[in-house]
Amino acid sequence: MWPKDVGIRALEVYFPAQYVEQKELEEYDGVSSGKYTIGLGQTRMGFCNDLEDINSLCLTVTHRLLERHDISPRDIGRLEVGTETILDKSKSVKSVLMQLFESCECTDIEGIDTTNACYGGTAALFNAIAWVESSYWDGRYALVVAADNAVYAAGSARPTGGAGAIAILVGPDAPLVFDRGLRANCMRHAYDFYKPDLRSEYPVVEGKVSIECYLSALDSCYQLYRDKVKKQRPDEDVTLASFDAILFHSPYCKLVQKSFARLAFIDFLNTPVPQISAKYDPVKKFHASKLEQTYFDRDIEKGFIELSKADFQQKTQPSLLLASQVGNMYTPSVYSGLVSFLISKPISELIGNKICVFSYGSGFCSSMYSITVAREGSGLTKIVDALSYVKKELAERHCVSPVEYTKILALREQNCHVVPYVPQSSTDNMFPGTYFLVKVDEKYRRSYKRT
Ligand code: ACO
Repeated sequence: MWPKDVGIRALEVYFPAQYVEQKELEEYDGVSSGKYTIGLGQTRMGFCNDLEDINSLCLTVTHRLLERHDISPRDIGRLEVGTETILDKSKSVKSVLMQLFESCECTDIEGIDTTNACYGGTAALFNAIAWVESSYWDGRYALVVAADNAVYAAGSARPTGGAGAIAILVGPDAPLVFDRGLRANCMRHAYDFYKPDLRSEYPVVEGKVSIECYLSALDSCYQLYRDKVKKQRPDEDVTLASFDAILFHSPYCKLVQKSFARLAFIDFLNTPVPQISAKYDPVKKFHASKLEQTYFDRDIEKGFIELSKADFQQKTQPSLLLASQVGNMYTPSVYSGLVSFLISKPISELIGNKICVFSYGSGFCSSMYSITVAREGSGLTKIVDALSYVKKELAERHCVSPVEYTKILALREQNCHVVPYVPQSSTDNMFPGTYFLVKVDEKYRRSYKRT
């Protein structure tokens, strides 16, 4: 017998307390005005100074979730971390998080880290769901932590950075229920974004290739998701109209708008000619197009962005609050979309919503799945009310100039493998309850404190 309504019971998001304005970064980088803010659709970029690393990000978000939701360490039976920010090639971040559980003598907790670029959080979530639905489940919750410090070398990719963490509590009788048996995946081999230089925090990126990989993964996952629904419910044809919200991994917001338009394009290609309505008149000529030849077709992109604008504003734009204000957090990105969506409208308007989720990680791994928001009485109000701090903390962050931001990144670059090391930044502006690095000793062992 399956446990009923397995899904998300609580969510916590954490982003660093400082950011750089993308508008100021355009000027500092000497690019044309509007390139980052309009061309990429980004407003601000959060980042970590030398006080924070992947361990501290995960400690902060995990401790905050347990505290805010009054969850005892004894209630957690599985703990998974999804990240692509690697500090130790052998020891997991999960093992660092055990410091929060060991003190309560809780050591019977399954799970370790999962890595594949921005997809690691989704893989960790799927592991957590599988555990709750398995014979090994013992009634406790699974906790998924996804976090990254997303930094790029100076150049065109740098404005698409970000940093943050998400903790997701998974269990039965949840207000956000994973639709059973409905998951579409597309996994391939590609060198679009990877981190072969273990001395550096920066990836090697093939920008255009990564965009093509992302869009081709989206095409495959959407078509396959439609097929899988058809198998479950032969009378149903999935289109954009089937969802109240569509959440995407967001490398930058403009790519998400293009991706939404692409799904509208696929809906159009799937429409038999006699059923094509007048609204498609401006794009009718594209009906014979081959999807794989259209990744960078400007006319198709423009036509479908225009055609799908109102739907995009309704179904996806609200999910981009954190993506535009913090940037690409990598593994937490698509789940920051879920948080942003949940705090975007009154709870009464969320009830019964169908949410489509598209997760992509370079390399490449991708999945599309869906979530149904349960009816009243399921704890939805509790989840959403607990997220009321998000807009307040976004507004309370501290603005750092591009000159200072560049210095901070240079400091990280110089010191990321230096031992012994004591961070130079001040803890003054950190949010209360944030973990920070106290020192790295001569044996590379890291110790942390909490503000
Ligand atoms: N006003 C308005 N728009 C402008 C302006 C301006 N002044 N200047 C440029 N633009 C537009 C461009 O026309 C372009 O729009 P388009 O995408 O519709 O063509 C957009 O701004 C970006 O400009 P480009 O010249 O294409 O940018 P560039 O090549 O310098 O870098 C890129 C963009 C490739 C996304 C880079 O930031 C990058 O490599 N990022 C990391 C990789 C990435 O995020 N990939 C996505 C999937 S993989 C992942 O999640 C990591």
